[in-house]
Amino acid sequence: MLTGVDKRVVAGRFAAAAGRYDASARVQARIATALADRLTALPLCDGARALEIGCGTGLLTAVSLARLPRVGSWLATDIAPSMVSACRRRLSQDPRLTVAAMDGEAPAVTGPFDLICSSLALQWFPDAAGALSAWRRLLAPGGVLLVATLGVDTFAQWRAALAAAGAPGAGPAYPDGDTLSHWLGAGGRVERQDFIEHHADARHFLHSLRGIGADYAPGRVAPVTLRRAMRLLEATRPVDITYDVRWLLAL
Ligand SMILES: C[S@@+](CC[C@H](N)C(=O)[O-])C[C@H]1O[C@@H](n2cnc3c(N)ncnc32)[C@H](O)[C@@H]1O
Repeated sequence: MLTGVDKRVVAGRFAAAAGRYDASARVQARIATALADRLTALPLCDGARALEIGCGTGLLTAVSLARLPRVGSWLATDIAPSMVSACRRRLSQDPRLTVAAMDGEAPAVTGPFDLICSSLALQWFPDAAGALSAWRRLLAPGGVLLVATLGVDTFAQWRAALAAAGAPGAGPAYPDGDTLSHWLGAGGRVERQDFIEHHADARHFLHSLRGIGADYAPGRVAPVTLRRAMRLLEATRPVDITYDVRWLLAL
């Protein structure tokens, strides 16, 4: 579980990564596209007001605005100001877009919104349950919340390699489906979809995390243990890494 201190470190890492994020964000782009696919299947009203939390450089923002002509306004927010700027640059031509730097755990907006969405940001929140209830309170009657976050089997291969190398419990830990259902609250639905990312070797996997600014995990693994875990991860190549994506839906 991340703390408030971790949160500031996380925000700083993402802020520093904004300029190089897109070059490494292969699986994040696939997940953003899958989220947008799901959004197109939702019954959005004409002129729908949308709020996006943790927009990053705007991968989800761009594909959603292109596919959702009924959206009237889209407020894209992120805790890292440089991410927000990158999102603005990507989509400066779309008059429906407004961007703002904001902590998504307690968004400084009154709403209501017809759509609230977020891709791969919630797992960075110290109080994800509190954030989800805050977001649900911002929904207009008939509004929809759709969130992609990471579930317990994410990075299973890497955590197994760390454990075999002598660092059990190291690496990021993610909630199971029951916990996510509980956090989402009554009437919500949680679905699982696995995305597998292939890497040439362990170094490429770790570089991709560093590339997007997502290489922070509380606690330290000794360099010798890390190297052993990397060798174990490479026992079979290419290195396949699971992203256990959970779709959280509340109508
Ligand atoms: C893995 S990136 C995902 C970005 C984008 N949604 C995508 O799919 O490419 C996670 C994003 O969440 C943002 N983030 C982390 N903690 C946040 C918080 N408390 N409030 C808002 N954004 C946050 C980070 O700055 C980063 O841009």
